[in-house]
Amino acid sequence: MSKISDTMAWIDERIPLTDTWNKHVGQYYAPKNFNFWYYFGSLALLVLVIQIVTGIFLTMNYKPDGELAFKSVEYIMRDVNWGWLIRYMHSTGASMFFVVVYLHMMRAIMYGSYKKPRELLWIFGMLIYLVLMAEAFMGYLLPWGQMSYWGAQVIISLFGAIPWVGDAITLWLRGDYVVSDATLNRFFALHVIAMPLVLVGLVFVHIIALHEVGSNNPDGNDIKKLKGPDGKPLDGIPFHPYYTVKDLVGVAVFLIIFFAIVFFAPEMGGYFLEHANFVPADPLKTPEHIAPVWYFTPYYAILRAIPIKLLGVIAMFAAIAVLFFLPWIDRNPVRSIRYRSTAYKVILAAFVISFLILGYYGLQPVTPLGTFISRLCSLIYFGFFIALFFISKNEKTKPVPERVNY
Ligand code: HEM
Repeated sequence: MSKISDTMAWIDERIPLTDTWNKHVGQYYAPKNFNFWYYFGSLALLVLVIQIVTGIFLTMNYKPDGELAFKSVEYIMRDVNWGWLIRYMHSTGASMFFVVVYLHMMRAIMYGSYKKPRELLWIFGMLIYLVLMAEAFMGYLLPWGQMSYWGAQVIISLFGAIPWVGDAITLWLRGDYVVSDATLNRFFALHVIAMPLVLVGLVFVHIIALHEVGSNNPDGNDIKKLKGPDGKPLDGIPFHPYYTVKDLVGVAVFLIIFFAIVFFAPEMGGYFLEHANFVPADPLKTPEHIAPVWYFTPYYAILRAIPIKLLGVIAMFAAIAVLFFLPWIDRNPVRSIRYRSTAYKVILAAFVISFLILGYYGLQPVTPLGTFISRLCSLIYFGFFIALFFISKNEKTKPVPERVNY
Protein backbone atom coordinates (compact mmCIF):
# COMPACT_ATOMS: atom_id res chain seq x y z
CA MET A 1 0.00 0.00 0.00
CA SER A 2 2.74 2.41 0.95
CA LYS A 3 4.46 1.52 -2.31
CA ILE A 4 1.39 2.78 -4.21
CA SER A 5 1.11 5.99 -2.20
CA ASP A 6 4.85 6.56 -2.54
CA THR A 7 4.54 6.21 -6.30
CA MET A 8 1.55 8.57 -6.34
CA ALA A 9 3.46 11.12 -4.28
CA TRP A 10 6.40 10.80 -6.66
CA ILE A 11 4.10 11.41 -9.65
CA ASP A 12 2.20 14.26 -7.93
CA GLU A 13 5.44 16.11 -7.31
CA ARG A 14 5.98 16.09 -11.05
CA ILE A 15 2.49 16.33 -12.62
CA PRO A 16 -0.79 17.24 -10.88
CA LEU A 17 -2.38 13.79 -11.26
CA THR A 18 -4.31 13.59 -7.98
CA ASP A 19 -5.29 17.28 -8.22
CA THR A 20 -6.64 16.81 -11.74
CA TRP A 21 -8.54 13.66 -10.78
CA ASN A 22 -10.11 15.43 -7.80
CA LYS A 23 -10.94 18.59 -9.69
CA HIS A 24 -12.61 16.82 -12.60
CA VAL A 25 -13.88 13.55 -11.16
CA GLY A 26 -13.50 12.71 -7.49
CA GLN A 27 -14.39 16.16 -6.13
CA TYR A 28 -16.38 17.48 -9.09
CA TYR A 29 -19.77 18.22 -7.57
CA ALA A 30 -22.60 17.61 -10.00
CA PRO A 31 -26.29 18.29 -9.26
CA LYS A 32 -27.92 15.25 -7.69
CA ASN A 33 -31.02 15.40 -9.90
CA PHE A 34 -29.50 14.35 -13.23
CA ASN A 35 -32.03 12.29 -15.20
CA PHE A 36 -32.13 10.14 -18.33
CA TRP A 37 -31.13 13.09 -20.52
CA TYR A 38 -27.78 13.39 -18.81
CA TYR A 39 -26.55 10.05 -20.14
CA PHE A 40 -25.77 11.37 -23.58
CA GLY A 41 -22.60 13.38 -22.85
CA SER A 42 -20.74 10.35 -21.56
CA LEU A 43 -22.26 8.22 -24.33
CA ALA A 44 -20.98 10.72 -26.92
CA LEU A 45 -17.52 10.27 -25.39
CA LEU A 46 -17.91 6.50 -25.64
CA VAL A 47 -18.90 6.65 -29.32
CA LEU A 48 -15.99 8.98 -30.02
CA VAL A 49 -13.62 6.35 -28.61
CA ILE A 50 -15.36 3.55 -30.57
CA GLN A 51 -15.02 5.56 -33.80
CA ILE A 52 -11.34 6.31 -33.26
CA VAL A 53 -10.39 2.76 -32.33
CA THR A 54 -12.38 1.05 -35.12
CA GLY A 55 -11.18 3.77 -37.52
CA ILE A 56 -7.53 2.93 -36.78
CA PHE A 57 -8.15 -0.73 -37.58
CA LEU A 58 -10.10 0.07 -40.76
CA THR A 59 -7.24 2.26 -41.96
CA MET A 60 -4.88 -0.73 -41.72
CA ASN A 61 -6.66 -2.40 -44.64
CA TYR A 62 -8.44 0.39 -46.49
CA LYS A 63 -6.95 1.82 -49.71
CA PRO A 64 -7.70 5.49 -50.52
CA ASP A 65 -7.49 5.00 -54.27
CA GLY A 66 -10.29 5.38 -56.83
CA GLU A 67 -9.40 1.98 -58.32
CA LEU A 68 -9.07 0.09 -55.03
CA ALA A 69 -11.24 1.78 -52.39
CA PHE A 70 -14.49 -0.10 -53.01
CA LYS A 71 -12.68 -3.44 -53.34
CA SER A 72 -10.66 -2.82 -50.18
CA VAL A 73 -13.88 -2.35 -48.21
CA GLU A 74 -15.22 -5.62 -49.64
CA TYR A 75 -11.91 -7.22 -48.69
CA ILE A 76 -12.28 -5.91 -45.13
CA MET A 77 -15.82 -7.33 -45.00
CA ARG A 78 -14.94 -10.78 -46.36
CA ASP A 79 -11.28 -11.56 -45.78
CA VAL A 80 -9.88 -9.53 -42.91
CA ASN A 81 -10.26 -11.29 -39.54
CA TRP A 82 -13.16 -9.59 -37.74
CA GLY A 83 -13.14 -6.98 -40.50
CA TRP A 84 -16.93 -7.11 -40.84
CA LEU A 85 -17.28 -6.35 -37.12
CA ILE A 86 -14.87 -3.44 -37.23
CA ARG A 87 -16.55 -1.95 -40.27
CA TYR A 88 -20.11 -2.39 -39.00
CA MET A 89 -19.13 -0.94 -35.63
CA HIS A 90 -17.71 2.10 -37.44
CA SER A 91 -20.68 2.58 -39.77
CA THR A 92 -23.23 2.00 -36.99
CA GLY A 93 -21.12 4.24 -34.72
CA ALA A 94 -21.46 7.10 -37.21
CA SER A 95 -25.26 7.02 -37.06
CA MET A 96 -25.36 6.38 -33.31
CA PHE A 97 -23.04 9.35 -32.80
CA PHE A 98 -25.70 11.58 -34.29
CA VAL A 99 -28.52 9.88 -32.35
CA VAL A 100 -26.62 10.54 -29.13
CA VAL A 101 -25.55 14.08 -30.07
CA TYR A 102 -29.07 15.09 -31.16
CA LEU A 103 -30.46 13.88 -27.82
CA HIS A 104 -27.61 15.65 -26.00
CA MET A 105 -28.46 18.90 -27.80
CA MET A 106 -32.17 18.42 -27.13
CA ARG A 107 -31.39 18.19 -23.40
CA ALA A 108 -29.32 21.40 -23.57
CA ILE A 109 -32.24 23.16 -25.26
CA MET A 110 -34.92 21.85 -22.88
CA TYR A 111 -33.01 22.76 -19.74
CA GLY A 112 -31.58 26.03 -21.10
CA SER A 113 -28.03 24.77 -20.62
CA TYR A 114 -26.84 27.23 -23.29
CA LYS A 115 -27.70 30.23 -21.13
CA LYS A 116 -25.35 32.33 -19.03
CA PRO A 117 -22.75 31.26 -17.89
CA ARG A 118 -22.64 28.35 -20.36
CA GLU A 119 -22.67 30.25 -23.66
CA LEU A 120 -19.13 29.22 -24.59
CA LEU A 121 -19.84 25.63 -23.62
CA TRP A 122 -22.75 25.70 -26.07
CA ILE A 123 -20.62 27.31 -28.79
CA PHE A 124 -17.94 24.65 -28.39
CA GLY A 125 -20.73 22.08 -28.62
CA MET A 126 -21.96 23.65 -31.85
CA LEU A 127 -18.43 23.63 -33.26
CA ILE A 128 -18.23 19.93 -32.37
CA TYR A 129 -21.53 19.40 -34.21
CA LEU A 130 -20.18 21.19 -37.31
CA VAL A 131 -16.91 19.24 -37.33
CA LEU A 132 -18.83 16.02 -36.73
CA MET A 133 -20.94 16.70 -39.81
CA ALA A 134 -17.82 17.40 -41.89
CA GLU A 135 -16.22 14.25 -40.51
CA ALA A 136 -19.25 12.10 -41.38
CA PHE A 137 -19.59 13.64 -44.84
CA MET A 138 -15.97 12.92 -45.71
CA GLY A 139 -16.07 9.44 -44.23
CA TYR A 140 -19.05 8.61 -46.41
CA LEU A 141 -17.01 9.18 -49.59
CA LEU A 142 -14.39 6.59 -48.59
CA PRO A 143 -16.27 3.33 -49.45
CA TRP A 144 -16.49 4.79 -52.97
CA GLY A 145 -19.99 3.43 -53.65
CA GLN A 146 -22.57 5.10 -55.88
CA MET A 147 -24.06 7.13 -53.02
CA SER A 148 -20.63 8.07 -51.68
CA TYR A 149 -19.73 9.43 -55.06
CA TRP A 150 -22.95 11.18 -56.01
CA GLY A 151 -23.66 12.47 -52.53
CA ALA A 152 -20.27 14.17 -52.50
CA GLN A 153 -20.88 15.45 -56.04
CA VAL A 154 -24.19 17.06 -55.01
CA ILE A 155 -22.93 18.61 -51.79
CA ILE A 156 -19.68 19.97 -53.23
CA SER A 157 -21.51 21.39 -56.24
CA LEU A 158 -23.67 23.43 -53.84
CA PHE A 159 -20.71 25.75 -53.41
CA GLY A 160 -21.02 26.46 -57.12
CA ALA A 161 -24.10 28.55 -56.31
CA ILE A 162 -21.90 31.21 -54.69
CA PRO A 163 -21.75 34.15 -57.14
CA TRP A 164 -18.47 34.75 -59.06
CA VAL A 165 -16.19 32.49 -57.03
CA GLY A 166 -18.48 29.43 -56.81
CA ASP A 167 -16.92 27.45 -59.65
CA ALA A 168 -13.41 28.17 -58.46
CA ILE A 169 -14.32 26.99 -54.95
CA THR A 170 -15.85 23.71 -56.14
CA LEU A 171 -12.80 23.05 -58.29
CA TRP A 172 -10.54 23.77 -55.33
CA LEU A 173 -12.56 21.53 -52.99
CA ARG A 174 -12.62 18.58 -55.40
CA GLY A 175 -9.09 19.08 -56.72
CA ASP A 176 -10.49 18.09 -60.12
CA TYR A 177 -13.35 18.87 -62.50
CA VAL A 178 -15.38 16.01 -61.04
CA VAL A 179 -15.21 14.07 -57.77
CA SER A 180 -12.17 11.88 -58.42
CA ASP A 181 -9.17 10.12 -56.97
CA ALA A 182 -7.77 13.49 -55.87
CA THR A 183 -10.97 14.18 -53.91
CA LEU A 184 -10.86 10.73 -52.33
CA ASN A 185 -7.25 11.23 -51.21
CA ARG A 186 -7.84 14.56 -49.53
CA PHE A 187 -11.09 13.41 -47.91
CA PHE A 188 -9.21 10.43 -46.53
CA ALA A 189 -6.48 12.65 -45.06
CA LEU A 190 -9.05 14.97 -43.52
CA HIS A 191 -11.25 12.14 -42.26
CA VAL A 192 -8.55 10.07 -40.58
CA ILE A 193 -6.36 12.74 -39.10
CA ALA A 194 -7.32 16.43 -39.42
CA MET A 195 -10.96 16.28 -38.33
CA PRO A 196 -10.48 13.74 -35.51
CA LEU A 197 -7.68 15.90 -34.08
CA VAL A 198 -9.91 18.97 -34.14
CA LEU A 199 -12.80 16.95 -32.71
CA VAL A 200 -10.81 15.59 -29.79
CA GLY A 201 -9.41 19.08 -29.10
CA LEU A 202 -12.90 20.59 -29.12
CA VAL A 203 -14.30 17.88 -26.84
CA PHE A 204 -11.46 18.57 -24.40
CA VAL A 205 -12.24 22.30 -24.34
CA HIS A 206 -15.98 21.50 -24.11
CA ILE A 207 -15.42 19.57 -20.89
CA ILE A 208 -12.99 22.14 -19.48
CA ALA A 209 -15.64 24.82 -20.13
CA LEU A 210 -18.28 22.65 -18.43
CA HIS A 211 -16.15 22.06 -15.36
CA GLU A 212 -15.26 25.73 -15.08
CA VAL A 213 -18.90 26.80 -14.68
CA GLY A 214 -20.39 23.54 -13.40
CA SER A 215 -23.21 21.43 -14.79
CA ASN A 216 -26.72 22.72 -15.24
CA ASN A 217 -29.56 20.40 -14.16
CA PRO A 218 -33.19 19.60 -15.06
CA ASP A 219 -34.43 22.38 -12.75
CA GLY A 220 -32.06 24.91 -14.28
CA ASN A 221 -31.14 26.48 -10.93
CA ASP A 222 -27.64 27.17 -9.69
CA ILE A 223 -26.51 24.59 -7.13
CA LYS A 224 -23.42 26.62 -6.27
CA LYS A 225 -25.61 29.24 -4.57
CA LEU A 226 -26.46 27.01 -1.61
CA LYS A 227 -23.48 25.52 0.12
CA GLY A 228 -23.21 23.42 3.29
CA PRO A 229 -20.80 24.10 6.18
CA ASP A 230 -18.15 22.06 4.31
CA GLY A 231 -18.33 24.52 1.42
CA LYS A 232 -19.80 21.89 -0.92
CA PRO A 233 -23.05 22.54 -2.80
CA LEU A 234 -26.01 21.17 -0.79
CA ASP A 235 -27.55 19.76 -3.95
CA GLY A 236 -24.31 18.41 -5.38
CA ILE A 237 -22.74 14.95 -5.21
CA PRO A 238 -19.22 13.93 -6.26
CA PHE A 239 -19.09 12.79 -9.86
CA HIS A 240 -17.18 9.71 -8.75
CA PRO A 241 -18.55 7.29 -7.63
CA TYR A 242 -22.15 8.49 -8.03
CA TYR A 243 -22.21 9.44 -11.70
CA THR A 244 -19.52 7.06 -12.88
CA VAL A 245 -21.83 4.28 -11.67
CA LYS A 246 -24.92 5.89 -13.17
CA ASP A 247 -23.14 6.40 -16.51
CA LEU A 248 -22.10 2.74 -16.53
CA VAL A 249 -25.78 1.79 -16.60
CA GLY A 250 -26.20 4.07 -19.63
CA VAL A 251 -23.15 2.52 -21.27
CA ALA A 252 -24.50 -1.02 -20.71
CA VAL A 253 -27.92 -0.22 -22.19
CA PHE A 254 -26.34 1.69 -25.06
CA LEU A 255 -23.98 -1.17 -25.92
CA ILE A 256 -26.88 -3.65 -25.96
CA ILE A 257 -28.72 -1.49 -28.49
CA PHE A 258 -25.53 -0.72 -30.42
CA PHE A 259 -24.51 -4.35 -30.83
CA ALA A 260 -28.06 -5.47 -31.57
CA ILE A 261 -27.85 -3.14 -34.59
CA VAL A 262 -24.29 -4.19 -35.50
CA PHE A 263 -25.19 -7.89 -35.41
CA PHE A 264 -28.76 -7.95 -36.68
CA ALA A 265 -29.44 -4.82 -38.73
CA PRO A 266 -26.20 -3.04 -39.68
CA GLU A 267 -27.80 -1.49 -42.76
CA MET A 268 -30.84 -0.45 -40.73
CA GLY A 269 -33.11 -0.84 -43.72
CA GLY A 270 -30.90 1.46 -45.81
CA TYR A 271 -30.83 4.27 -43.27
CA PHE A 272 -27.37 3.60 -41.82
CA LEU A 273 -25.88 2.14 -45.01
CA GLU A 274 -27.76 3.12 -48.14
CA HIS A 275 -28.55 0.37 -50.65
CA ALA A 276 -27.00 2.28 -53.57
CA ASN A 277 -23.68 2.22 -51.77
CA PHE A 278 -23.29 -1.50 -52.38
CA VAL A 279 -22.66 -0.62 -56.05
CA PRO A 280 -19.17 0.75 -56.94
CA ALA A 281 -18.98 4.45 -57.81
CA ASP A 282 -19.68 5.08 -61.47
CA PRO A 283 -19.04 8.66 -62.66
CA LEU A 284 -21.08 7.95 -65.81
CA LYS A 285 -24.24 6.73 -64.09
CA THR A 286 -26.20 9.03 -61.79
CA PRO A 287 -28.44 7.12 -59.35
CA GLU A 288 -32.12 7.87 -59.73
CA HIS A 289 -32.61 9.18 -56.23
CA ILE A 290 -29.74 10.80 -54.34
CA ALA A 291 -30.28 11.33 -50.62
CA PRO A 292 -27.76 11.94 -47.88
CA VAL A 293 -27.66 9.79 -44.74
CA TRP A 294 -30.56 10.45 -42.33
CA TYR A 295 -28.71 12.83 -39.98
CA PHE A 296 -28.25 15.40 -42.75
CA THR A 297 -31.72 15.16 -44.23
CA PRO A 298 -33.48 17.95 -42.27
CA TYR A 299 -31.03 20.43 -43.77
CA TYR A 300 -31.22 18.75 -47.17
CA ALA A 301 -35.01 19.16 -47.11
CA ILE A 302 -34.59 22.88 -46.35
CA LEU A 303 -32.19 23.15 -49.29
CA ARG A 304 -34.64 21.47 -51.64
CA ALA A 305 -37.63 23.42 -50.37
CA ILE A 306 -36.30 26.63 -51.87
CA PRO A 307 -36.44 26.86 -55.67
CA ILE A 308 -33.54 29.33 -56.09
CA LYS A 309 -30.34 27.35 -55.56
CA LEU A 310 -28.32 30.12 -53.94
CA LEU A 311 -31.14 30.93 -51.49
CA GLY A 312 -31.53 27.23 -50.71
CA VAL A 313 -27.84 26.95 -49.91
CA ILE A 314 -27.99 30.07 -47.73
CA ALA A 315 -31.07 28.75 -45.89
CA MET A 316 -29.41 25.39 -45.33
CA PHE A 317 -26.32 26.94 -43.77
CA ALA A 318 -28.41 29.50 -41.89
CA ALA A 319 -30.44 26.66 -40.33
CA ILE A 320 -27.25 25.45 -38.65
CA ALA A 321 -25.70 28.88 -38.03
CA VAL A 322 -28.76 30.21 -36.19
CA LEU A 323 -28.26 27.61 -33.45
CA PHE A 324 -24.98 29.26 -32.48
CA PHE A 325 -26.94 32.35 -31.45
CA LEU A 326 -29.47 30.55 -29.28
CA PRO A 327 -28.00 31.94 -26.01
CA TRP A 328 -28.82 35.47 -27.23
CA ILE A 329 -32.04 34.72 -29.08
CA ASP A 330 -33.59 33.26 -25.93
CA ARG A 331 -33.72 36.29 -23.65
CA ASN A 332 -35.43 34.70 -20.67
CA PRO A 333 -33.16 34.02 -17.68
CA VAL A 334 -35.26 31.02 -16.58
CA ARG A 335 -33.46 27.99 -17.92
CA SER A 336 -35.55 24.87 -17.54
CA ILE A 337 -38.61 24.08 -19.62
CA ARG A 338 -40.24 23.01 -16.31
CA TYR A 339 -40.74 26.64 -15.30
CA ARG A 340 -41.42 28.21 -18.67
CA SER A 341 -44.66 29.32 -20.29
CA THR A 342 -47.05 27.26 -22.39
CA ALA A 343 -46.24 29.48 -25.38
CA TYR A 344 -42.58 28.48 -25.08
CA LYS A 345 -43.45 24.79 -24.84
CA VAL A 346 -45.70 25.04 -27.91
CA ILE A 347 -43.08 26.70 -30.12
CA LEU A 348 -40.38 24.29 -28.96
CA ALA A 349 -42.64 21.31 -29.74
CA ALA A 350 -43.40 22.79 -33.18
CA PHE A 351 -39.66 23.24 -33.78
CA VAL A 352 -38.80 19.64 -32.88
CA ILE A 353 -41.69 18.21 -34.92
CA SER A 354 -40.80 20.34 -37.96
CA PHE A 355 -37.16 19.15 -37.69
CA LEU A 356 -38.30 15.51 -37.67
CA ILE A 357 -40.69 16.00 -40.59
CA LEU A 358 -37.97 17.78 -42.56
CA GLY A 359 -35.72 14.81 -41.82
CA TYR A 360 -38.36 12.48 -43.25
CA TYR A 361 -38.96 14.47 -46.43
CA GLY A 362 -35.22 14.93 -46.98
CA LEU A 363 -35.04 11.16 -47.42
CA GLN A 364 -37.89 10.99 -49.96
CA PRO A 365 -37.82 11.69 -53.70
CA VAL A 366 -39.19 15.14 -54.59
CA THR A 367 -43.00 15.30 -54.87
CA PRO A 368 -45.28 18.37 -54.91
CA LEU A 369 -46.74 17.41 -51.51
CA GLY A 370 -43.28 16.80 -50.03
CA THR A 371 -42.06 20.16 -51.29
CA PHE A 372 -45.10 21.92 -49.85
CA ILE A 373 -44.68 20.30 -46.43
CA SER A 374 -40.92 20.93 -46.47
CA ARG A 375 -41.58 24.62 -47.15
CA LEU A 376 -44.06 24.79 -44.31
CA CYS A 377 -41.68 23.05 -41.91
CA SER A 378 -38.76 25.27 -42.99
CA LEU A 379 -40.91 28.27 -42.09
CA ILE A 380 -41.73 26.74 -38.70
CA TYR A 381 -38.04 25.92 -38.16
CA PHE A 382 -36.91 29.51 -38.66
CA GLY A 383 -40.13 30.85 -37.16
CA PHE A 384 -39.19 29.20 -33.87
CA PHE A 385 -36.16 31.44 -33.44
CA ILE A 386 -38.10 34.58 -34.30
CA ALA A 387 -40.97 33.65 -31.97
CA LEU A 388 -38.52 32.73 -29.22
CA PHE A 389 -36.79 36.09 -29.46
CA PHE A 390 -40.06 37.90 -28.81
CA ILE A 391 -41.82 35.47 -26.47
CA SER A 392 -38.80 35.08 -24.20
CA LYS A 393 -38.61 38.79 -23.45
CA ASN A 394 -41.78 39.15 -21.38
CA GLU A 395 -42.62 35.53 -20.78
CA LYS A 396 -44.66 34.59 -17.73
CA THR A 397 -42.56 31.96 -16.02
CA LYS A 398 -43.12 29.93 -12.85
CA PRO A 399 -40.88 30.53 -9.85
CA VAL A 400 -37.70 28.45 -9.98
CA PRO A 401 -37.14 26.53 -6.70
CA GLU A 402 -33.95 27.17 -4.74
CA ARG A 403 -33.31 23.48 -4.16
CA VAL A 404 -33.40 20.88 -6.92
CA ASN A 405 -36.37 18.50 -7.24
CA TYR A 406 -35.16 15.10 -6.37
C1 HEM B 1 -18.51 14.56 -29.50
C2 HEM B 1 -19.56 15.20 -29.08
C3 HEM B 1 -19.78 15.63 -27.66
C4 HEM B 1 -19.26 15.12 -26.50
C5 HEM B 1 -18.29 13.96 -26.34
C6 HEM B 1 -19.83 15.89 -25.41
C7 HEM B 1 -19.55 15.66 -24.08
C8 HEM B 1 -20.22 16.25 -23.02
C9 HEM B 1 -20.17 15.79 -21.66
C10 HEM B 1 -19.37 14.58 -21.15
C11 HEM B 1 -20.96 16.61 -20.93
C12 HEM B 1 -21.27 16.49 -19.44
C13 HEM B 1 -22.30 15.40 -19.23
C14 HEM B 1 -23.66 15.79 -19.73
O1 HEM B 1 -24.09 16.91 -19.42
O2 HEM B 1 -24.31 14.98 -20.43
C15 HEM B 1 -21.49 17.62 -21.82
C16 HEM B 1 -22.33 18.67 -21.46
C17 HEM B 1 -22.86 19.61 -22.34
N1 HEM B 1 -22.76 19.58 -23.71
FE1 HEM B 1 -21.71 18.25 -24.80
N2 HEM B 1 -20.66 16.86 -25.92
C18 HEM B 1 -20.68 16.73 -27.28
C19 HEM B 1 -21.41 17.49 -28.18
C20 HEM B 1 -22.20 18.59 -27.82
C21 HEM B 1 -22.97 19.37 -28.74
C22 HEM B 1 -23.05 19.11 -30.23
C23 HEM B 1 -23.59 20.36 -28.00
C24 HEM B 1 -24.51 21.46 -28.45
C25 HEM B 1 -24.47 22.07 -29.56
C26 HEM B 1 -23.22 20.18 -26.62
C27 HEM B 1 -23.64 20.97 -25.55
C28 HEM B 1 -23.46 20.67 -24.21
C29 HEM B 1 -23.98 21.45 -23.10
C30 HEM B 1 -24.79 22.75 -23.22
C31 HEM B 1 -23.62 20.78 -21.92
C32 HEM B 1 -23.96 21.17 -20.50
C33 HEM B 1 -25.25 20.51 -20.16
C34 HEM B 1 -25.74 20.76 -18.76
O3 HEM B 1 -24.91 20.98 -17.88
O4 HEM B 1 -26.98 20.74 -18.61
N3 HEM B 1 -22.39 19.09 -26.53
N4 HEM B 1 -21.03 17.37 -23.11
